[in-house]
Amino acid sequence: MDNGVEVSGATHRLAGKVALVTGGARGIGESIAKLFTKHGAKVIIVDILDDLGHAVCEKIGLGMASFIHCDVCVESEIEKAVNFTMEKHGKLDIMVNNAAIAGELKLSILENEESDFERVLRVNVTGVFFGTKHAARVMIPNRSGSIITIGSICSTVGGVGSHAYTTSKHAVLGLTKNVAAELGEFGIRVNCVSPHFIPTPATLPIVEKHPKLYTNVYHNLKGVVLTEQDVADACLFLASDESKFISGENIALDGGFTAINPSFGLFSRLQST
Ligand SMILES: NC(=O)c1ccc[n+]([C@@H]2O[C@H](COP(=O)([O-])OP(=O)(O)OC[C@H]3O[C@@H](n4cnc5c(N)ncnc54)[C@H](O)[C@@H]3O)[C@@H](O)[C@H]2O)c1
Repeated sequence: MDNGVEVSGATHRLAGKVALVTGGARGIGESIAKLFTKHGAKVIIVDILDDLGHAVCEKIGLGMASFIHCDVCVESEIEKAVNFTMEKHGKLDIMVNNAAIAGELKLSILENEESDFERVLRVNVTGVFFGTKHAARVMIPNRSGSIITIGSICSTVGGVGSHAYTTSKHAVLGLTKNVAAELGEFGIRVNCVSPHFIPTPATLPIVEKHPKLYTNVYHNLKGVVLTEQDVADACLFLASDESKFISGENIALDGGFTAINPSFGLFSRLQST
């Protein structure tokens, strides 16, 4: 039946678009890069893990994906990566600020050293600031673009990650909203995707070191498990024109974890009788 609803190109939702994915050499970033290219985007992967980054591009196909070494903590390297993208493809439509580190999990704040704290903030916050700034530099003249930052459940609740990590993920959500406020004038959308826990090379060492903390990872929704692919799917939506009116938003991929308080109320999970 013709109900006037247009069915979008199911397999090429990013046809003709160009994306840059930071930290795309493995984990969630690798899944995002792979999914974007499947949907027709040309992708530039940046990372500090050169061998893995090149290998991912070869797997995808060098016609669709390129790697450039870039430490997101160094502004000139982000600037170079964005300039490389412009020289190679003539534009940047989608920026995914995915690179981040978990840092060491030291439970007591008394054990947390200034240098560890600042290192996490440098990668997770300043790196996102540089990525956002240089993406905006080339998107503003084009008067369009989608900037996506990977937040976390630690962007909105406390007590799940380390002090530094939680601070950093709250900060990038704030940056997302502020930059969205500025860049809307230029048709540029700025959003966050905030996943729950996924075992990746970043989180597995923490799980192995603190097995008791991760024996009962809680979320409200039962019967499903969050994967890297789910994060990539949410990024695909925010990168595509299907989300053309969404900006300043934080999409929580957390099975209701940050929205529902399990300890009190009609559906409490902690009732003793
Ligand atoms: N895995 C989870 O449970 C989880 C949950 C919520 C949010 N996240 C977020 O998802 C994103 C990806 O995490 P992941 O689990 O895939 O981690 P990961 O460690 O597997 O991947 C992160 C990538 O970023 C790269 N990277 C680190 N520092 C960098 C730097 N200075 N410059 C350039 N690249 C750098 C790493 O080399 C790596 O390839 C991060 O923002 C993380 O905070 C992860």
